Amino acid sequence: MSKITQADLGTPASRSTETVRIEIDGLPATVRAGTSILRAARESGVDIPKLCSSDNLKPFGSCRLCLVEVEGRKGYPASCTTPVEAGMKIRTQTDALARLRRNVMELYISDHPLDCLTCSANGDCELQDMAGVVGLREVRYGFDGENHLTGEVDRSNPYFQFDSTKCIVCSRCVRACEEVQGTFALTIQGRGFESKVSAGIDEGFLDSECVSCGACVQACPTATLMEKSIVEHGQPDHKVITTCAYCGVGCSFQAEMKGDTVVRMTPYKDGQANHGHSCVKGRFAWGYATHRDRILSPMIRDSVDEAWRQVDWDEAIQYAARRLKEIQAKYGRKSIGGITSSRCTNEEVFAVQKLVRAAFSNNNVDTCARVCHSPTGYGLKQTLGTSAGTQPFDSVMDADVIVVIGANPTEGHPVFASQMKRRLQEGAKLIVVDPRRIGLVKSPHIEAAHHLALLPGTNVPIINALAHVVVTEGLVDEDYVRERCDVESFEAWKKMIEKPENSPEEVAKISGVPAEEIRAAARLYGSADRAAIYYGLGVTEHSQGSTMVMGMANLAMATGNLGYTGCGVNPMRGQNNVQGSCDMGSFPHELPGYRPVADDAVRGSFEQRWGVKIDAEPGFRIPNMFDEACAGHFKGMYIQGEDLAQSDPNTKHVEAALSSMECVVVQDLFLNETSKFAHVFLPGTSFLEKDGTFINAERRINRVRPVMPPRQGKDEWLITQELAQALGYPMDYESPADIMDEIAALTPTFASVSFEFLDRVGSVQWPCNEKAPMGTPVMHVDNFVRGKGLFIETDFVPTEERTNRKFPLLLTTGRILSQYNVGAQTRRTDNMVWYAEDLLEIHPSDAELRGVREGDLVALTSRKGEITLRATVTTRVQPGVVYTTFHNPETGANVVTTEYSDWATSCPEYKVTAVQVAPATHRSAWQQEFEARAASQGKILETT
Ligand code: SF4
Ligand code: SF4
Ligand code: SF4
Ligand code: FES
Repeated sequence: MSKITQADLGTPASRSTETVRIEIDGLPATVRAGTSILRAARESGVDIPKLCSSDNLKPFGSCRLCLVEVEGRKGYPASCTTPVEAGMKIRTQTDALARLRRNVMELYISDHPLDCLTCSANGDCELQDMAGVVGLREVRYGFDGENHLTGEVDRSNPYFQFDSTKCIVCSRCVRACEEVQGTFALTIQGRGFESKVSAGIDEGFLDSECVSCGACVQACPTATLMEKSIVEHGQPDHKVITTCAYCGVGCSFQAEMKGDTVVRMTPYKDGQANHGHSCVKGRFAWGYATHRDRILSPMIRDSVDEAWRQVDWDEAIQYAARRLKEIQAKYGRKSIGGITSSRCTNEEVFAVQKLVRAAFSNNNVDTCARVCHSPTGYGLKQTLGTSAGTQPFDSVMDADVIVVIGANPTEGHPVFASQMKRRLQEGAKLIVVDPRRIGLVKSPHIEAAHHLALLPGTNVPIINALAHVVVTEGLVDEDYVRERCDVESFEAWKKMIEKPENSPEEVAKISGVPAEEIRAAARLYGSADRAAIYYGLGVTEHSQGSTMVMGMANLAMATGNLGYTGCGVNPMRGQNNVQGSCDMGSFPHELPGYRPVADDAVRGSFEQRWGVKIDAEPGFRIPNMFDEACAGHFKGMYIQGEDLAQSDPNTKHVEAALSSMECVVVQDLFLNETSKFAHVFLPGTSFLEKDGTFINAERRINRVRPVMPPRQGKDEWLITQELAQALGYPMDYESPADIMDEIAALTPTFASVSFEFLDRVGSVQWPCNEKAPMGTPVMHVDNFVRGKGLFIETDFVPTEERTNRKFPLLLTTGRILSQYNVGAQTRRTDNMVWYAEDLLEIHPSDAELRGVREGDLVALTSRKGEITLRATVTTRVQPGVVYTTFHNPETGANVVTTEYSDWATSCPEYKVTAVQVAPATHRSAWQQEFEARAASQGKILETT
């Protein structure tokens, strides 16, 4: 086994709590009951040869290489399919076994190319290893008989290839696709000698159902399924354990390197969020880090009409500091602010919020979570006491009923979706609440018990109606409510929920969901032993986002579904470090750990450590910054890794605000839409260059480790620190570990966290402190963090955005598996083969009414603006609803979204926009303007 390869114990761990004593090759061993002999031996340090088994797949017993002898039993049982029994005496090495194993290998090798020296798997091939282990020296059958050595190589997938000549038909790939990924894209076609692996019905990988997760490639013991990067570069020589920088699942990876070059990302088996699995983005889409578009030199310009001038770091930082100081001198202390990024590390984010508070001397700091999960923070804090999800991902394996609301896990959080699918295949029931027929509603071997296909904007009536059924049909967990919750608030909430307007029959009229469907779903959830809610931006990005979050918390409390494994209320966080960027004090009213900036004692502790006075008054949120900019009062912004001009709603307003500023500093990997309005560009680092931590959706603090030095020459935390120094504030960390030490010293929920601790234990879920030294997987176990759980009344106040004759359709937005957020990273990878442009999904009846056919260019018009994009006609959306993604800047999806936002947090209402769709002959005026600006920016860059 190569030193890069992760250990494989042969079969999955037994879940039994009992142990049995056995003897292996004369030595005693104690293992869990139900463990296979193969695993028991490997756990005891005895490596029985194997080929068809792997410790993330159910034992299969096809290769016959793992045969053993068991005292008192006839024959040679396969050790992978034979569980241990108390007192068993096992022999793994005898002459007879050696002979049998050599025979097996001889057959395999007689039909295998003998090109080991030039094979891409040379040095990391289980077949090669096993031939050595069993001592195969000759192949008596020769190589001239019928064989498979002239098969074809399928190179259709951009990231891996399938070379059928090397396949030993062990079926590990097929089982990985079924058991690990849950996609069922592969089959073994034919029988006996004719059997072969096939993607789809002989379609090739690219055209099949394959979602390119790579589980089959990882499972393959030969070079049959192989990463193209390994074919090109050869085997890695060292590895670094780090964390994916895409979604909020936070998968751990082994970055496998050859010098400074990443040649493979292999999901890390000890990663607690992903247990060795990944999706296409994390495993394959890391090429953007070395893409030629990366800006590697700082740049400045006096006006946005001028060409960028490349300068050294010192000049860029001094220039930014001078202009920001001039603005404050002219327009006042509060005329500048900063935005932190959910893609950056906690340490980088902490440094930026400190820069704003200590060097800008105000609280004008906000984060991109403002536009995604800010209602989660507010709603869960009010009801439960903590602004975060309640469970670890593994908790889903104990759920009997799973409710997915406004989330699309197979596209947005694929690795967690695979885990959820495993639980659903075991028998848990699924309720999907979503306007679209998302993949989970019906996929191979999975079907939702209920799909509540509500109209966008009616989440709150639906959650109230579900609660109405629970309350009026005696499904409230009275003991739980009495012991754990604030009873007075429960009574008030109950009174509200019981009102006829919250009955399924009334709610059916506004939501479009049949009353009996709502009732059935409520009964299923309310009577489950353990029921878990998972939700996404389809909940939060509404004008009632916070109300809905509180509605879900109310329902979970009323049914006793909090504080245990298998239940809870769980936000599916979008970006890799949304949780962390919020935890780190990126809000204008809160210091790290969600503590009010207005609280003298809290502020005092930071003032003492930082040696400055902190403004007691909360600062501006992002939308307020834009409004103040348009009003002429807000003139400078430091934007860390965030493309506000593309990702924020009502693009024209955002562009007007950015244009009115006198100094916009953008820190990012690539020039983006926002940098078109910037005066200073500070190149950022990719996750492969960062040293720090990310926090995933389950509050897990994961280490991010650099696999290469910063390509632009400077760590991002250091850029922020030098800007603070240039502004006159002596920020003086020596390393990111120092920053984490300060976070721990100032934030009670992080008190025991340090890089040294994380490197020792792997990862930990906050709170992690004296009371919980190894972290807190499940929150609110005996008590809610706020004491008694608080029910909050959730009356429905509909959005002001309404359909009418002019705008009769409702637009809602979402993401697709292969792309990520504004697409800055994934658009610079081969993921483009799956989804090169944003499409508008429209129902066949709406399409026909408008004369729109598949692939037509259509104009999408709202009260705010017009864009054009291609239509795809599909029943995934219901009549009256259209849907698009927002991964491409030229689409301008946010040109049409409105300024309506959540009443509590100002989170924009991306999910409900009244629109009209019509066939179009040319690009919209906004898009023509966009293209012209892109061309002129291109020219400006060329001159640098
Ligand atoms: S492709 Fe690999 S994993 Fe799949 S059957 Fe062939 S050898 Fe086994
Ligand atoms: S890459 Fe993933 S989805 Fe595709 S065939 Fe392999 S295991 Fe299945
Ligand atoms: S599921 Fe999310 S964290 Fe995991 S590999 Fe995919 S994008 Fe990365
Ligand atoms: S590993 Fe046991 S039969 Fe293949």
